Amino acid sequence: MNIILTVVLFTAVAVSVSAEETLSCTDNLSCPRTDPDTETLQCIFTSQLCDDTELCSGGQDEGENIASLDCTNDVFTCKTGETVGLSDLCDGEADCSNGRDETSPLCENKCRAPYKGGCAELNRECSYTELDASCDECIAGYTEVVGYCVQGLTLGTEKSLYSVKEDEGSLEVCIDVLLGSISSGDTYTVSYTTVNGAAQAPDDYLEQSGSVDLTSSATKQCISIPIEDDAIDESDQECFVLSMSESSGNANVTVSPPTVTVCINDTDESALVVGLEETAYTVDEVDSYQLVCVGVLSGDVDGREISLSYSTTSGTASSGNDYTSASGEVTIDDDTTRQCISIMIRTDSVTESKECFTFSISLENTVTNLTVDPDETSVCIIDKNSIPITIGLTQALYTVGESSGSLTVCYEILSGRTATRSIGMTLKTVQGDAVEDEDYTYSSSSDTLDDNDSSDCDSIPILTDTLDEEEECFTVSLSTTTTYLSGLTISPHIGTVCITDDDRELYFYN
Ligand SMILES: *[C@@H]1O[C@H](CO)[C@@H](O)[C@H](O)[C@H]1NC(C)=O
Ligand SMILES: *[C@@H]1O[C@H](CO)[C@@H](O)[C@H](O)[C@H]1NC(C)=O
Ligand SMILES: *[C@@H]1O[C@H](CO)[C@@H](O)[C@H](O)[C@H]1NC(C)=O
Ligand SMILES: *[C@@H]1O[C@H](CO)[C@@H](O)[C@H](O)[C@H]1NC(C)=O
Ligand SMILES: *[C@@H]1O[C@H](CO)[C@@H](O)[C@H](O)[C@H]1NC(C)=O
Repeated sequence: MNIILTVVLFTAVAVSVSAEETLSCTDNLSCPRTDPDTETLQCIFTSQLCDDTELCSGGQDEGENIASLDCTNDVFTCKTGETVGLSDLCDGEADCSNGRDETSPLCENKCRAPYKGGCAELNRECSYTELDASCDECIAGYTEVVGYCVQGLTLGTEKSLYSVKEDEGSLEVCIDVLLGSISSGDTYTVSYTTVNGAAQAPDDYLEQSGSVDLTSSATKQCISIPIEDDAIDESDQECFVLSMSESSGNANVTVSPPTVTVCINDTDESALVVGLEETAYTVDEVDSYQLVCVGVLSGDVDGREISLSYSTTSGTASSGNDYTSASGEVTIDDDTTRQCISIMIRTDSVTESKECFTFSISLENTVTNLTVDPDETSVCIIDKNSIPITIGLTQALYTVGESSGSLTVCYEILSGRTATRSIGMTLKTVQGDAVEDEDYTYSSSSDTLDDNDSSDCDSIPILTDTLDEEEECFTVSLSTTTTYLSGLTISPHIGTVCITDDDRELYFYN
């Protein structure tokens, strides 16, 4: 007792100055935090409450910003009219009739015995740094067995968590001597009973309760819990608890862990379809990457892991010239339900027809209730010279006054794309009843449209005279200078330009 007290006092002094300390779990209090996610937990001692030295940033240890701590009278107020002594605060026993002395924010300390909100199990030390407080070793005299700090004769199971597949039929749990030994002639009776959790008896397992006797010659006894196999796709894991106690009343015997969690893993999986998202991809012959995607098409992955290998197979398109072959493996699981693979498409200078290769996937592992479909897709490359594009005049009919000087005629890409091609276009005038070099100046101009240039305009000089004429028209004609471009449509390619005479008005006023 003296030794423990010395340690406590030493640590109490050190806590405010040092960044890292080991506190035993008998250190009970903490500074209240407004945001536990961002604020560090600060441990304090009962003796540090109302001692005129502010340790908590909000001053709560000195009664500031916390209504329940009355430092004038050195008491904790319960709000029910009662008050309790500071030493009763967070000691694991409710002294306020509303239990407030145990649920106060001052009791949040991770470094304390297993009361509400604490992380520590009894008889542990906590490593405390300014950033964190975590439970560490067992305090002196205790031994850690299956995560618990125990002393004396300890009977229990080798694990505190068991899992079993639903279709395994049963689960065996053995109770053994974990620490110490049973003296000859002694008998310890361990009673056990199952307690429903998400797993319920009798649908998921058969309820068990009874007892086993451990003696020096029979130190291990096993119980078998029947597990029910159904055909229902349930949540992946459903658990129940096996609770144990020793009935001799001998205070020197511990049953640890006192409860064991048993989880049943569901083996029923609903139908799942994974496959390629498209059964045909069409791609332009342009140096680029084509994504081919595989993913969950119907159903839930539900914990399954699906390993798929993929590969490309040349058809009319050959790897190397037309695309770069690809192969590998992808995994679909709960987190990644879609995977896309990029395949490099390559350009060549040959003018050719549409060429295709195949992309296929195949399942590499065994997965319950899975269909892989479609498992094949074609990727067809359209020769760059056949990539559809429509270029046309922005207007098919123009009216211009003879004295307006000029007419601007424009053409543009109306649909499709050049796809790195440079398409030469010529716009020229063709005589009609409007006469070349009398009513307008012959014009022919060439330009290219490419990825960076989707339209072009030309200006046609319009000539004026003093004759009173009827409306006269000529034509503008759009054509290409690029050969081998089977994907190109020029429409509208003819525009009619009509020149309106403005001499009649002059005549009228003369
Ligand atoms: C913490 O609580 C325990 C159990 O009630 C008590 O024995 C101990 O004195 C308390 N420690 C401090 C530092 O208040
Ligand atoms: C049950 O599922 C859990 C979580 O997926 C896994 O860790 C455990 O190994 C499974 N148990 C069995 C018996 O398959
Ligand atoms: C408990 O252990 C102590 C010390 O080992 C021993 O003196 C005492 O007799 C034991 N008590 C019982 C009830 O077995
Ligand atoms: C496969 O899925 C179907 C539909 O969800 C279900 O009826 C069937 O029981 C499942 N089969 C297995 C082996 O899980
Ligand atoms: C378009 O512009 C980009 C960037 O300025 C250039 O790299 C590319 O070669 C141009 N494309 C054509 C067809 O001129």
